[in-house]
Amino acid sequence: MRYLSLITIVIDRIFQIRRECNEEFISIGSRNRLQMDVPAAALQENVDATSIRQVGNTPLVQLTHSRFGEEKDVFAKLEWFNPAGSLKARPASWMISAGEDRGLLKKGMTIMEPTSGNTGIAITKFARQLGYKVELAIPEGVSSETKEKLRSGGAKLLVTEDDLCPRVGPGTDQSIALAGALIHNHPDQYYMPNQYENEANFLSHYRGTGPEIWEQTHGKVKTFITGIGTGGTITGVGTYLKEKDSSIRVIAVQPQKNHHIQGLRNLDESEVPEVLKRRYDVIDETVTVTDDESFHMVNELANNENLFPGPSSGAVMAGFQKVVGSLDNGPIVVIFGDDASKYKSVYKEFGVFTTEAYEKLRINSRFQRDSENY
Ligand SMILES: Cc1ncc(COP(=O)(O)O)c(C=O)c1O
Repeated sequence: MRYLSLITIVIDRIFQIRRECNEEFISIGSRNRLQMDVPAAALQENVDATSIRQVGNTPLVQLTHSRFGEEKDVFAKLEWFNPAGSLKARPASWMISAGEDRGLLKKGMTIMEPTSGNTGIAITKFARQLGYKVELAIPEGVSSETKEKLRSGGAKLLVTEDDLCPRVGPGTDQSIALAGALIHNHPDQYYMPNQYENEANFLSHYRGTGPEIWEQTHGKVKTFITGIGTGGTITGVGTYLKEKDSSIRVIAVQPQKNHHIQGLRNLDESEVPEVLKRRYDVIDETVTVTDDESFHMVNELANNENLFPGPSSGAVMAGFQKVVGSLDNGPIVVIFGDDASKYKSVYKEFGVFTTEAYEKLRINSRFQRDSENY
């Protein structure tokens, strides 16, 4: 136990140095207090909880090119610095811990979840560390790299005909229905976190991402912009920030109907998830962006900021561009949910980057996270 604690302290310190060494990161805030927010069950002494302990405290970096930050201070929260490479490490760790705490998830059980990728990748990573099996109901439209990453991480994939996001509405919710049916028949074998309904999804952002943004902007944030998937991020961060300062504007970005932006959902073609329904009022404005606008913005972020973002980051910046004229000066915080590493085939298909340009960026772009084995 003493040996494990020592390793954990050393790893924490390495992460701290890595972040503090980069002068473009603005204040990271109180790392230790936030780490304490990870529920206790995740920190059992007989498991390697190192990775789950590293969730959150992601860097906030200023976008400096005139294309984005000419008149306003725009900061991107780089969520690909989370374990498993996305913002979904937050709800995944909280939902697993909540399941353990309530006795719904016990040793020997299988975690079953409908997911379009990132939640599944994070669940697979943490489940392996904690000794659970994983089965995921996943839409066939999800990128081949994502499916490969999940399979190589040890997850069993149940591929459904949903086009991209598992949909919530009747008749279109194959991934969710399939996962639900399996656990209904075998409740002793399966635990389904269900990110669309689980309050721990909201809490992971309300207790983690929101306070981090508040501290990193020294309480000055004026506008918060993010994409909608389950609604956990926008309701969690939005609720926390508005409790601190009710004048902060919260803007949601949704993709067009029949979109190709992994992780996000269009609310006109899909029912509003429970997590979002519970606190819908926190959203001041919703902006809709097209695939073209989103992928164009991925390209702009690469060319002008030397970043390597995923499609949802492009969507969020396309949304930002649509509302920028009406925004106050002062920190505007946008969420960049994951990086481009799972989207080589998508970017090729949509002509975002040539293979050569993609490889060049993969090697040379700023703010790469450490490579990880899933
Ligand atoms: C990659 C990715 N997935 C999902 C989401 C949506 O998150 P949530 O499910 O919390 O609404 C985002 C938000 O920007 C994202 O970037």
